[in-house]
Amino acid sequence: MTVRTVIKYPNPNLKLVSEPVTVFDDELKELVNDMFETMYEDKGIGLAAPQIDVHKQIVVIDVSEDKSEQKVIINPKFILEEGETGIEEGCLSVPLDYRAYVKRYEHVIIECQNEKGETYQIDANDLLAICIQHELDHLKGILFIDYLSSLKRNLLLEKIKKANKREKRNG
Ligand code: NI
Repeated sequence: MTVRTVIKYPNPNLKLVSEPVTVFDDELKELVNDMFETMYEDKGIGLAAPQIDVHKQIVVIDVSEDKSEQKVIINPKFILEEGETGIEEGCLSVPLDYRAYVKRYEHVIIECQNEKGETYQIDANDLLAICIQHELDHLKGILFIDYLSSLKRNLLLEKIKKANKREKRNG
């Protein structure tokens, strides 16, 4: 298993729309393992393939604290979206540990495939539901900061640019 490099906003590749997975082979299983490894390394609860610059409809999620609730979500579709909730979200692809409140559905059901190509459903509430919506957005090229006002997003972008410049000077 290999920890992959997570690409960060404003990298334009995060805006690409991911393609469906059609081949369920050993290479896919290896990619899924690498995604879990990368997510745990960065202390995330979810990671979408486009975040490691692979533009395929693959997401891994584990909202547990002991690696006990691993979910592999491939080629997902929403079947139900209802209710309303929200938390301060962050993202491994958004620098400076930036967080902001995003409104989400409280209850979702999705249909997807696992790494073997088997179709199954996930019925999720609360944190898992939020995480699923956040990660599935990545597959459409949407980041949680896209839900903020352009004013807030531009302020963040300025901060990131400044921080990157500082890093370049010091590095
Ligand atoms: Ni994210």
